[in-house]
Order: sequence, then C-alpha cells, then structure tokens
Amino acid sequence: MGGAQEIKDVTIPLEMLVMKTLVSHDSPANALPKFRAGLKGLRSAYRYNNSGAPDYSERHSRGAYALAFYPHHVMAYAHMFARAGLGNLGLNGGPVRVVVLGAGPGSEILGLLHVANCLDWGELELEIALVDKEPGWKNSHPTTLARAGSEILGSAIEPKSFDILDFNTAQGLIGLQGAVSDSDLVLVPMLLSETDGRGQPGKITDAIFSAMPAKSRLVISDIATYAADDAGLASLQGMRQDCQLIWSENIVHPCQDSHTDLKKYLYMPHYEVPRNDGLIRRTTINMRTAIFSFG
Ligand SMILES: C[S@@+](CC[C@H](N)C(=O)[O-])C[C@H]1O[C@@H](n2cnc3c(N)ncnc32)[C@H](O)[C@@H]1O
Repeated sequence: MGGAQEIKDVTIPLEMLVMKTLVSHDSPANALPKFRAGLKGLRSAYRYNNSGAPDYSERHSRGAYALAFYPHHVMAYAHMFARAGLGNLGLNGGPVRVVVLGAGPGSEILGLLHVANCLDWGELELEIALVDKEPGWKNSHPTTLARAGSEILGSAIEPKSFDILDFNTAQGLIGLQGAVSDSDLVLVPMLLSETDGRGQPGKITDAIFSAMPAKSRLVISDIATYAADDAGLASLQGMRQDCQLIWSENIVHPCQDSHTDLKKYLYMPHYEVPRNDGLIRRTTINMRTAIFSFG
C-alpha cells in the first residue's frame, strides 16, 4: 500500500467518451436533440416523481444518463469509497465477488477501481456480477466499463455476468437473493429511492438483508434526502442479529463547471437541467452511504 494520493478527476474524459459514442451512428445535429429530450425526461422523473423511476428502456434515456449522471457518479463513488476505506469495505485480498444491484452503466464499479488505482490500494481482483431490470444497459457497458476502464485504469472492465431481474417481482426477488448469497460485497447504488424508497425497510431491503452471507459487506448509497436517517439505519441494522452498521456518511460531491469544449459540442451545457422550461445548473450530488457487515 502506498501513501495517500490525489483522486484524479476523470469527469471530462468520461463525458467525451460517452459523447463520442452517442454521436457515432448519427450526426451531432440529429443525435443531440434526442439526448437533450432524454435528459429532460430523466430530470423531470427524478425531480417531480418521487415514487417513480425513469424509463431506461428508452435508448435516449440511457444515453442521457450515461452522459449527464454517470461521469459525476463515478467521481462521487470514488470519493465515497476513499472515505470509507479498504478496511470498512472488507477488500483485503481477492478475488472479491462483488454484486451490483441496479448497476445501470456501472458507475460504482469504475469509481471503486479508479479510487483503488489513485490511492494505490494494490491490485483489486474483482469478480463482478451486475444486475438490473433493463437489458438495454448491456449496450452501454462496452463504453462505460470496457472502454472507460481502458482509458481511465489502463485495462477494460469485464463483468463476469449481467443478469436481468426486476426486483419488483417475486421472481426478481428470488434471483436477487441467489446473487447476493454468493457474494463477498453487495453494492446497492441509487436503487432504493426508485424502489423501496426513503430508506425504510421494504421488500427489496428485506430480501437483501435476509440473503447476505457470513463475512460479507453491504454498501447502500442513495440520494441523501431519500436515504435512511439514523433511525432508519438502526431499523435496517435490526433486521438481522449478526448485522452491524460499520460506517455511514453523507458525501456532497461538487460537479465541475469547466467543460468549455463539451459545452460547445453539446450546444446546451449538459450540467444545466431543464426545469419549468427554464434551466438550472446541476452543482452537487448529495449522497448518503451506509456500510453493513454480516456474520
Ligand atoms: C439511478 S440508476 C443507478 C445507476 C448506477 N448504479 C449509478 O449509480 O449511476 C438506478 C438503476 O436501477 C435500475 N432499477 C430501477 N428499478 C429496478 C428494479 N425494480 N429492478 C431492478 N433494477 C431496477 C434502473 O434500471 C437503473 O439502472
């Protein structure tokens, strides 16, 4: 293990990579309005529809997410994992079987491997299982994991599996438990606010907590206003006798405002979000994370 170094900001290379991919099959003039519309849809789903989730079966919604959310999420997760530290994540030695529930483009995996690189955590040997209800994300992974990994880490990220499960169905919950029970580390990144909601125990948290195997870690991250407060975390922890809340923190991650070239390219700065037909600027990600250990 080396000494602490800086966590390099990779927002701009990731945005440029996604942008190049999005316009690779069409001219920017044709493609960009569709992704702007996709972004508008995402923003209004997240802003106004507390109980609902955007429809990621739409290609332009996934593209808009990859462009406007994923690079910032990678950085927010990198900073969060850095603060949580290797010990709390239980990442001593490998290979570590990591399952991501609601992985989408896989922001959290790139964030984890990026921070491991920057902070010289040594070679992290991860066996990565991704799970999501939306099969279309498979088309994003060659960009958001393979090419992004090559560019940012020096080698492509290749998940071992990508399983399609809808956790709002009985069958999806059974599949979730199968995936979780075979893991060392389970990541639940920005999923529960779209499903169980507000950090209270629900069907999905129940299923996860009951399936966590001995000596495993569970990392739940969510938008701070939706995530569990201290009482909520205590009630989650109380779901199992052998469960301990070992770390919990709020991360307010500033989104950079220095994308001059990208602004020109996009015509509309991607970090400006449509609201009431006007524009407001996205400045921060406010994310709360809790880490639980089992057994
Ligand atoms: C906000 S995105 C998070 C993506 C990524 N983990 C990140 O943090 O950038 C939420 C993800 O959860 C998935 N999702 C939402 N509801 C789900 C459900 N009922 N079952 C499985 N996946 C679900 C969505 O398809 C989407 O990819």
